[in-house]
Amino acid sequence: ISLKPYNTFGINVSANQFAEFNSLESLKKLLKNEEKHLIIGGGSNILFTKNFDGIVLKNGLKGIHLLREDDDFIYIQAAGGEQWHQFVLYCVERNYSGVENLSLIPGCVGAAPMQNIGAYGIELKDVFYQLEALHIPSSAICTFNKEECKFGYRESVFKKEFKNQYVILNVTFRLKRLPDFHIEYGAIKAELEKMKISNLSIQAISQAVINIRESKLPNPKEIGNAGSFFKNPTISETSFVSLKDKFPQIVAYDLPDTKQKKIAAGWLIEQCGWKGFKQDNYGVHAKQALVLVNYGDANGADILKLSEQIIESVNEKFSIHLEREVNIV
Ligand code: EPU
Repeated sequence: ISLKPYNTFGINVSANQFAEFNSLESLKKLLKNEEKHLIIGGGSNILFTKNFDGIVLKNGLKGIHLLREDDDFIYIQAAGGEQWHQFVLYCVERNYSGVENLSLIPGCVGAAPMQNIGAYGIELKDVFYQLEALHIPSSAICTFNKEECKFGYRESVFKKEFKNQYVILNVTFRLKRLPDFHIEYGAIKAELEKMKISNLSIQAISQAVINIRESKLPNPKEIGNAGSFFKNPTISETSFVSLKDKFPQIVAYDLPDTKQKKIAAGWLIEQCGWKGFKQDNYGVHAKQALVLVNYGDANGADILKLSEQIIESVNEKFSIHLEREVNIV
């Protein structure tokens, strides 16, 4: 079976078998299959470089429930197979505050904690309460609170020590009843001004984020991609000072309480001349150098090779080692 419809990069590889699970029972039954398995959600953070010799299981668990509320917070549980953006819209419509800055991120709810998705000043961990996951080896259902997930920048325990061991069944979010606007991020402020918003609202922020994303990031339905291909690297303040000396335009963010700086990888890649690079049917997005794209029937291995060349040239020019954000299979 072709996996092309199940990965936003649109890579045409195959798997021996494919199944979607809509209940815990069907998931457990499918996991009894002896074949090697790969769990996917929206397939939006994955680059297939070869055929998968096993069974691919897609999370199709659905449902959004209000669990409880108190004076300040609303606890909402969403099933792992819900589309992330649908969940955001559900909250935005009801004035539940917290996820509006994370509008239009592809993928599903169950994948969101895996890499602690983030955008425009907010990360999943800021609204996360707990999750339930199936431990594959024992079939036990485990609850993880925020500390236990060990969230970091595009990191969690599920990407590291517990890699491939759990299926995230549902996630509970703690959202605010009273709006708590986060518009520190320069691009949001500028977009809100452009939209001539006089009364700030959750809906306006969500729309601003949607506008920014649509203007910069390729729509996977039109051009295959998996969002940022690399992480923004962190370097010491000392190395930053000497880099800034050589490259005064370098784009960096402060990391409060650390002696480190986060550097915009897109800027580094652009400086190496890759922005808009195109070879055959793949390349580097012309509006955001952090995004690698498939213009149609590209080979995942070629895109991986391109990412290696980019890593090499950034290393040569800036002595910074870029790390991939996308999972390579
Ligand atoms: N920049 C360039 N050239 C480029 C791209 C960026 O010079 O080609 C510079 C610009 O100065 C720009 C700055 O980098 O102002 C930051 O760019 P942008 O706002 O697009 O954000 P980013 O740091 O490139 C990160 C996340 C995105 C997230 C945005 C917005 C990572 C790896 N990426 O990108 O997340 O949407 O911030 O908060 O942290 C994703 O993870 O898939 C993703 C899209």
